[in-house]
Amino acid sequence: MRIAMIGTGYVGLVSGACFSQFGHDVICVDVDENKISRLKKGEIPIYEPGLDKLVSENAAAGRLAFTTDIAEGLKGCDAVFIAVGTPTRPEDGHADLKYVFAAAEDIARNMDGYTVVVDKSTVPVGTARKVYERIAQTNPDADFDVVSNPEFLREGAAIDDFMHPDRVVLGGEGERAMSVMRKIYEPIAAETKIVETGLESAELIKYAANAFLAVKISFINELADLCEKVGGNVGDVAVGMGLDSRIGEKFLQAGPGYGGSCFPKDTLALAQTATAQGAPVRIVETVIDVNSRRKRAMADRVAEACGGSLSGKTVAVLGVTFKAETDDMRDSPALDIVPALQNMGAVVRAYDPQGMDEAAKLLNDDVQWMAGAEEAMGGADVAVIITEWREFRELDLQKVKSLLKDPVIVDLRNLYEPADMVASGLRYHSIGRQAV
Ligand code: NAD
Ligand code: UGA
Repeated sequence: MRIAMIGTGYVGLVSGACFSQFGHDVICVDVDENKISRLKKGEIPIYEPGLDKLVSENAAAGRLAFTTDIAEGLKGCDAVFIAVGTPTRPEDGHADLKYVFAAAEDIARNMDGYTVVVDKSTVPVGTARKVYERIAQTNPDADFDVVSNPEFLREGAAIDDFMHPDRVVLGGEGERAMSVMRKIYEPIAAETKIVETGLESAELIKYAANAFLAVKISFINELADLCEKVGGNVGDVAVGMGLDSRIGEKFLQAGPGYGGSCFPKDTLALAQTATAQGAPVRIVETVIDVNSRRKRAMADRVAEACGGSLSGKTVAVLGVTFKAETDDMRDSPALDIVPALQNMGAVVRAYDPQGMDEAAKLLNDDVQWMAGAEEAMGGADVAVIITEWREFRELDLQKVKSLLKDPVIVDLRNLYEPADMVASGLRYHSIGRQAV
């Protein structure tokens, strides 16, 4: 099959590279000239494990190309995927569809014969029909169908998630378009559940899945707070409840609150859509509120661990990205925690293996960016682990003790066993467990 990907970001680039690995001919289109020229030179604009190898191998095999020229991208194309951003519209919390509609109009003007237009971006229910109308209005002669094929990959594990998904959702009407979609996913069809639905259900599945995962995380985060009050251990509670197969073990890791480019914006967009439709999703509304408060409250924990005040204290922040194995800073808890620490009078020194360039653009100039975890901790009063990068799991605890002025660690990811920290002579505060 010949596939065009409109939007070459986290989803467009990973999906395009994986489709080329399936054996399809893929051309990735983007309006960002700098991004495309870097990709043409073999440079990968994002940090995603394994992506550089996948892109270079498929580009070398002639199955993966990059362009800013949408007409070139759509030539002879069987399916064109819209994979542009759908950020929160600041004025009302709805998903901003301006990039999706701009892409739809570009596609309409450049379509070359019968083409399946696929919404891969996360879009509110009803968008696929609006995309259909936009294309039909822009080019009344266009021969096309619209299909919804939401994406469920996670950053940091994106290639594996795409190549071995729990399911593929195909929402559409009409055999002609659906048979093109089945052919596209044919290379993984034998081991993958393919769920075929109508357009609206496919669009809703994506929001329902993200919102449900956000509910799960917020649930365990609130249970963690209760554990701290009553002497429980949230890790044990998560294991004990997660082994019930109706609940499941995944996404029960208590932490500083969920962040990232999707859960915050998608929960908000779902809540807005549901309210507008007169069928509010109260659980999701509550989760949004619980999570926002949680992120802001994390700085208070650091102050408490330091005796109540951070005035004049130096805080070493380990990790600023919203999770490990990505350089993505969108809605990272660090964007709430670091300014809150500074507002309490702390000097913040921070280190992240991949996210510092982007974080430096989003946080104020007073943050001191350090070359490594040990550099950040040298002479600091307290270390705060915000992101669960592997290297923060493997700190030399004796060295940490000698580096920190007052050996306090606030671990917002529960990377260590409290008993090990006691044995190392560190004062240790984590999430949903007793401070030691
Ligand atoms: P992104 O911001 O990384 O990439 C979007 C790209 O689209 C940018 O490179 C931008 O320049 C380009 N673009 C915008 N308008 C364009 C146009 N008219 N023509 C061509 N290119 C255009 O976004 P992302 O993180 O890849 O997310 C894309 C969509 O996928 C969103 O709806 C998101 O919710 C969804 N999604 C994201 C993830 C994830 O892990 N990031 C996972 C599943 C779904
Ligand atoms: C999430 C979903 O997991 C993907 O299925 C979905 O495709 C994607 O959103 C999307 O729509 O963009 P992602 O945001 O990359 O993927 O990362 P997750 O691993 O889901 O983590 C999201 C946030 O939740 C992170 O801040 C993470 O630290 C937090 N989290 C996750 C927890 O606090 N506890 C957990 O148990 C799991």
